[in-house]
Amino acid sequence: MSEHTPKAQANVRGPRATKAVIPAAGLATRFLPATKAVPKELLPVVDRPVLQYIVEEASRSGINDVLLITGRGKTSMVDHFDRQPYLEARLEAKGDMERLAAVRGTSELAEIYTCRQGEPLGLGHAVSYAESHVGDAPFAVLLGDEFTAEDDPLLPQMLDLQARTGGIVLAFIEVPDDEVNRYGIASVESAEPDLADVDNVVRVTGLVEKPARDQAPSNLAVVGRYVLPGTIFEAIKRTKPGSGGEIQLTDAMALLLTEGTPVHGIVYRGVRYDTGMPLGYLQAVVQLASQRTDLGPAFKEWLKAFVAELDGPAGAA
Ligand code: UTP
Repeated sequence: MSEHTPKAQANVRGPRATKAVIPAAGLATRFLPATKAVPKELLPVVDRPVLQYIVEEASRSGINDVLLITGRGKTSMVDHFDRQPYLEARLEAKGDMERLAAVRGTSELAEIYTCRQGEPLGLGHAVSYAESHVGDAPFAVLLGDEFTAEDDPLLPQMLDLQARTGGIVLAFIEVPDDEVNRYGIASVESAEPDLADVDNVVRVTGLVEKPARDQAPSNLAVVGRYVLPGTIFEAIKRTKPGSGGEIQLTDAMALLLTEGTPVHGIVYRGVRYDTGMPLGYLQAVVQLASQRTDLGPAFKEWLKAFVAELDGPAGAA
């Protein structure tokens, strides 16, 4: 869990968010056909589903209340965080304490709540389902297909900043010019002097969804972590369907921005795993498998030999 610095504490204006919402009701078309029956949030990265990495990230940031927005065919996501008494008894009887701890651990990470988005009408629409659970308190939104390196988290800094500004806090990565048209891109200016102690923070002055390369106001792309004030729900209700006919969270945030809600972003330069499509997913598996103390040494040895063979005369042919 992160700690406020004395200086940050002096600036705290409101409560730090204590709940997270994970919208996971999308159709996951970029990963078909794998995701026809299996939610992309349950694809395994080594031996844990993606969603577990995300709930662990929330839990390490001090968030122990997680609302999963699910849809058709997605109930298995909730089962993953439930107790499994029969399985646990079998592992205990076998004396397999390591796996027993792993199985039990998932049900101890956080209180998991769930609700269903009847139809996937957009990220903003999905987030609107959290209103009765969250009320008017600030909350975090964590997209269900990306997460950050365990030893270099971003969420604690975002939660601390939101408690100080009371507004919207976004996460940015810097993308190359030829990729700006795949993301929401922010126009930004320097943050206020009283936020000088926050690393990599900028004030957001505008947001554009997937701009052409020559029209992008910066290279700062919005990625899947948001800390939002409770006023977002009322803004979503006023938001008309936008890009793709969907109710976009970006449009609701842009509405609050024009009405004076402070919007800041933190530029993340650590390792981010994006498992929403096959290439990013494969990279995440290889990176995280290599870091494992149990599997890593043997996996890296195999990987080096495999790559050497690819680069060698046989592979080059
Ligand atoms: P994405 O844009 O990644 O869409 O949604 P998707 O359906 O998951 O995947 P693709 O693009 O078709 O491959 C961002 C996040 O918002 C959720 C998704 O589950 C994902 O976590 N979402 C999106 C919803 O929960 N409901 C929606 O109506 C749309």
